[in-house]
Amino acid sequence: MIQPIEHAAEILSTARRAVALTGAGISVESGIPPFRGKGGLWEKIDPMKVAHIDAFLKDPETVWKLLIKDMKRLLDTARPNPGHSGLADLERLGILKTVITQNVDGLHQMAGNSDVIEFHGNFAWQSCLDCNRSIETSQVDLTTLPPRCSCGGILRPDCVFFGELIPQKALIRSQQVSAACDVMLVIGTSAMVQPAATMPFIAKDNGAFIIEINPEATPLTSRISNLPLLGDAGSIMPRLLKALRRRLATP
Ligand code: OAD
Repeated sequence: MIQPIEHAAEILSTARRAVALTGAGISVESGIPPFRGKGGLWEKIDPMKVAHIDAFLKDPETVWKLLIKDMKRLLDTARPNPGHSGLADLERLGILKTVITQNVDGLHQMAGNSDVIEFHGNFAWQSCLDCNRSIETSQVDLTTLPPRCSCGGILRPDCVFFGELIPQKALIRSQQVSAACDVMLVIGTSAMVQPAATMPFIAKDNGAFIIEINPEATPLTSRISNLPLLGDAGSIMPRLLKALRRRLATP
C-alpha cells in the first residue's frame, strides 16, 4: 500500500490550483502557542473576556495587559518554521496558488508566499479607535496601557475580535479560491471556528481532494479529509516536499 506521505505527494504532483487553509498549529513550531488543546491560550484565559470586541471596548487596558501585549512580544520575534517554508516551496513549484490563514502573525508572507488571505486580519498594524489612523505595531510604545494614538485615541490591532465580522474581501476571496481549488491542504486548525471552518467543505463540495496535516483528529478528519497526515506541520512538510520533488524529477 502507498504510504500517506507518498500518496499526498502523488496528489500534489498533478495539482494545478492547490490552496492551503492554515491555523494556529502551523505556527506552534515558531514558538506561538495555539488557542485550543494542549498548552492552548484559551485554557488559561477566557476568550469571551479578552478576545471579544465588547470586552475590548469596555476595558481596553485589561485586554491589552492580558492578551495583546504578550502577543506583541511573541510576534515581534517569531520566524517561519519548516511548515511555512514548505508552503512557500509549494508556491515556487507552481502548485500552491493561495494561502488562506486564520493566523495574524504574518509568517506565511515572511516565508515567501505571495497570495495570503488574512481571514482574521493581521497584527502588523494598529488602528486608532477615534481617528482611524494606522500605526505599525512595531512602532507602538507600550509604556502605558492601552497605547494611544497622537490624537489621544486608543489603539486596537487590525485583528478580528470575536463578535466582529470577517473582512468582506477576505471572506469572498476565500470562498472563491476554495470553490476553485483542486486540492486543499488544511494545516494546523482545529476547524472549530466559523466561517473559516466552512472553507474545506466548500472545496470538497466542488470536487477538491482534502489533505489534512495535524497531530490530532479534528471534526474534518472523519467527515471530509481524504488523506489525514497525523503529525506536526514542521516535520510533515519537509518530508512531503522531498517526496514531491522526487516525483517531479522522475519523468
Ligand atoms: P486552534 O488553537 O483552535 O487549533 C490549533 C490546531 O493545531 C489543533 O487542531 C492542534 O491539534 C493543531 N496543532 C498543534 N500543533 C501543531 C503542529 N506542530 N503542526 C500542525 N498542527 C498542530 O487554532 P485555529 O484553528 O487556528 O480566532 O483557531 C481558529 C481561531 O480561533 C483563531 O484564528 C482565533 C481563535 O479564537 C480569533 O481570534 C478570531
